[in-house]
Amino acid sequence: MRYFYVLIIIAMLCVTVPLSAGYRELFEKEFLSKPWSSEILEESACVECHTSDAMPPELRSIPQEWQLSWHYQNDVSCDDCHGGDSTDATMSMSHKRGFAGTPKYTEVPEQCGKCHLGILEHYVESGHGKALKETGDGPNCVTCHGSHNIQKVSIDIINAQRCSKCHSYDRAKMMKQALFLTDEKIEKIEEALLILKSKGVYPEKEEKRLFDTQAKFRTLFHTIDVTRVKNETDHYTKQLDSIEEDVGNTFDHLAFRRKFSTFLMLIFAGSWIVASLLSKSYKD
Ligand code: HEC
Ligand code: HEC
Ligand code: HEC
Ligand code: HEC
Ligand code: HEC
Repeated sequence: MRYFYVLIIIAMLCVTVPLSAGYRELFEKEFLSKPWSSEILEESACVECHTSDAMPPELRSIPQEWQLSWHYQNDVSCDDCHGGDSTDATMSMSHKRGFAGTPKYTEVPEQCGKCHLGILEHYVESGHGKALKETGDGPNCVTCHGSHNIQKVSIDIINAQRCSKCHSYDRAKMMKQALFLTDEKIEKIEEALLILKSKGVYPEKEEKRLFDTQAKFRTLFHTIDVTRVKNETDHYTKQLDSIEEDVGNTFDHLAFRRKFSTFLMLIFAGSWIVASLLSKSYKD
């Protein structure tokens, strides 16, 4: 009789060990991929001095704004944009340590474009970039995104207040309409991925594909070329449809796995009852 129990336990282990190993791996991946797993450990001299009483009050709010930004969460700090040395308070703002100061209005795109290469490329060729270069009248990156409080983007950046300062809002509105459906699809998949994560599944492949696709698509706006955006929409819709399908399959798979574990539990409970009945009848 004892062998019977041992067999059941071994059978249970065989089924559950691979499942739980999978989960541990998923958990570790999930944990390590969080931006806060690489928290900024060293205090930055820039932040320390710029929050101190030494600072003119009108500049003191900058570090706070930055701490609420998407850049802060992704470890982009003062010296990444302004240059300088964040580890040495006495030499921080020395030109010898690469400090570049506050960029002029026309220099901002170069500063941001050090990291956002593809966007800079589109921007420089656009009506906005050309106007900035030729007459200084075009909007720069900060006009639309801000500098210290930069957040994740959405097409709501395109609004009448911001886009009718220099020309009629009609052109801006046409661009917003051209982006709308694809943008909505991206957001829908993002939400689905969040739901999967809340259920303990880490859809790494789909997440990476979505990131790549949306990063490419969202640079497209900077051409401010409505015809081009319309022409390329088909290509992005196809890619997003394929990601959406894979995410849908993962949901189906998840439902199956839940049913499967209920099934296993029922079998276990069933065997337990049979076993205890048998052992009882032996004793009797
Ligand atoms: C993403 C790039 C970026 C980061 C990160 C950044 N800055 Fe700036 N900063 C800029 C730009 C662009 C300007 C000029 C445009 C403006 O004032 O908005 C600027 C302007 C400034 C100014 C001048 C403001 C004024 O009104 O004269 C100060 C001071 C400053 N930054 C300090 C900091 C400090 C301190 C940090 C870190 C807590 C920081 N910056 C992080 C891009 C950045
Ligand atoms: C020991 C204090 C101290 C440290 C450390 C420090 N700053 Fe400053 N910073 C100041 C003060 C004070 C001002 C205002 C000067 C003024 O108004 O003329 C300033 C002004 C600035 C400005 C705007 C004026 C300009 O020259 O363009 C920027 C940008 C800036 N700091 C960035 C930085 C960065 C980036 C770091 C770190 C690499 C840093 N600071 C470290 C004290 C400091
Ligand atoms: C040192 C590199 C670096 C510099 C310089 C930099 N960024 Fe970024 N930026 C990043 C990283 C890293 C992220 C986070 C990854 C992402 O979301 O693409 C990011 C994210 C962003 C986002 C949000 C993108 C999203 O996913 O919705 C915007 C908007 C942005 N940056 C604008 C700017 C602007 C404007 C400037 C110049 C004032 C600038 N960046 C300068 C590295 C940089
Ligand atoms: C600082 C001024 C300024 C702001 C703010 C501004 N634009 Fe422009 N925009 C221009 C200039 C300058 C041109 C090029 C000259 C022209 O075609 O009139 C232009 C042209 C355009 C064009 C036409 C491009 C073409 O090739 O036909 C579109 C579309 C456009 N802007 C969209 C926007 C959107 C969307 C916003 C808001 C997110 C915006 N603009 C904000 C200055 C601005
Ligand atoms: C006229 C306004 C405007 C200007 C100027 C502008 N942007 Fe944008 N930016 C937008 C809008 C609107 C979006 C969102 C487009 C979408 O959702 O498809 C965006 C998206 C982005 C993104 C997100 C891309 C991603 O991976 O999700 C980054 C990063 C960015 N811009 C950086 C920059 C930089 C750097 C510059 C300067 C070279 C710049 N932007 C100039 C309006 C602007």
